[in-house]
Amino acid sequence: MIIRKASVKVVGCSDYVMGAVSCMLLFFLCCLIPEASGQDVLQTCDNNNGNYTANSTYSTNLNTLLSTLSSNTEINYGFYNFSHGQNADRVNAIGLCRGDVEPNQCRSCLKDAGGNITQLCPNQKQATIYYENCMLRYSNGSIFGILDSNPDFYMWNQNNATEAAEFNQVLQNLLRELKDKAASGDSRRKYATDNDTTTNFQAIYGLVQCTPDLTQTQCNDCLDVAISQIPICCNDKRGGRVLGPSCNIRYEDYRFYG
Ligand SMILES: *[C@@H]1O[C@H](CO)[C@@H](O)[C@H](O)[C@H]1NC(C)=O
Ligand SMILES: *[C@@H]1O[C@H](CO)[C@@H](O)[C@H](O)[C@H]1NC(C)=O
Ligand SMILES: *[C@@H]1O[C@H](CO)[C@@H](O)[C@H](O)[C@H]1NC(C)=O
Ligand SMILES: *[C@@H]1O[C@H](CO)[C@@H](O)[C@H](O)[C@H]1NC(C)=O
Ligand SMILES: *[C@@H]1O[C@H](CO)[C@@H](O)[C@H](O)[C@H]1NC(C)=O
Ligand SMILES: *[C@@H]1O[C@H](CO)[C@@H](O)[C@H](O)[C@H]1NC(C)=O
Ligand SMILES: *[C@@H]1O[C@H](CO)[C@@H](O)[C@H](O)[C@H]1NC(C)=O
Repeated sequence: MIIRKASVKVVGCSDYVMGAVSCMLLFFLCCLIPEASGQDVLQTCDNNNGNYTANSTYSTNLNTLLSTLSSNTEINYGFYNFSHGQNADRVNAIGLCRGDVEPNQCRSCLKDAGGNITQLCPNQKQATIYYENCMLRYSNGSIFGILDSNPDFYMWNQNNATEAAEFNQVLQNLLRELKDKAASGDSRRKYATDNDTTTNFQAIYGLVQCTPDLTQTQCNDCLDVAISQIPICCNDKRGGRVLGPSCNIRYEDYRFYG
């Protein structure tokens, strides 16, 4: 897997499924992260949304919030939307586990995420971290029910699909079908997986997920943007991922979900 960080906003690209070239101008290569051994940890520390200092009220609130989140044993649907603190020191956090992840696995992922993100982003008020099994983000601003369709990362398998044109077509159809399913989910779960096969028997497994605090329309819009990035980041590739704060998609030529 190659990983690329999206370093430029992509608002306005959602209609450009066929407009890859004009959209591509909005991207540049920021970081190519070589294949990591074991768990990939990807984070964005937002340097434009204010900083906090060690031992400040914000810092204490954030740490309390993250430990409350990862120690909660009541939530069994993999979505956490918690806040802690007052006024300017209030912190909002969202934790989202992949839809097939068991509650105890989910907690453990969010615990690692919370422990790592505050070290990787030691003073940013707003940050996001992505693991294979979960995503965690926090901000001093409102994030619940608010769509952020800007992807943070793209990842792709370096190997090309055979009969790539057909593969791409079957893939787009699969992802669009999954988008509709996921978006029509309820406020606890907006997640869908399925597989399809090309005429030369290449299997494609797809997964799409939104944070379930989004409305159906917001989830649709988020996934539209993510799916429209596939021909840009991952054209002809056997596997790819688009990771963003409000939604993510992944496809592979093998079954990767539970
Ligand atoms: C978040 O913090 C930054 C910097 O302290 C501040 O400028 C911004 O207004 C805050 N956002 C909200 C929603 O309070
Ligand atoms: C916040 O901290 C980051 C890195 O620690 C720095 O790059 C950025 O300029 C700081 N922002 C402000 C407003 O001080
Ligand atoms: C924060 O608090 C810890 C423990 O009280 C202390 O060791 C550390 O020096 C403090 N850091 C700052 C930047 O004040
Ligand atoms: C960071 O995450 C790794 C797993 O990726 C975990 O083993 C480690 O304990 C985490 N660190 C903290 C401080 O939580
Ligand atoms: C995939 O296809 C592209 C374009 O045809 C080519 O440049 C690239 O080398 C191929 N990659 C592999 C791993 O075969
Ligand atoms: C948190 O999520 C639950 C489940 O999706 C939802 O019912 C609740 O309204 C959300 N709370 C906030 C403050 O957004
Ligand atoms: C592929 O999807 C079909 C339903 O769409 C399902 O019955 C089948 O078990 C799936 N195959 C694999 C290997 O997951």
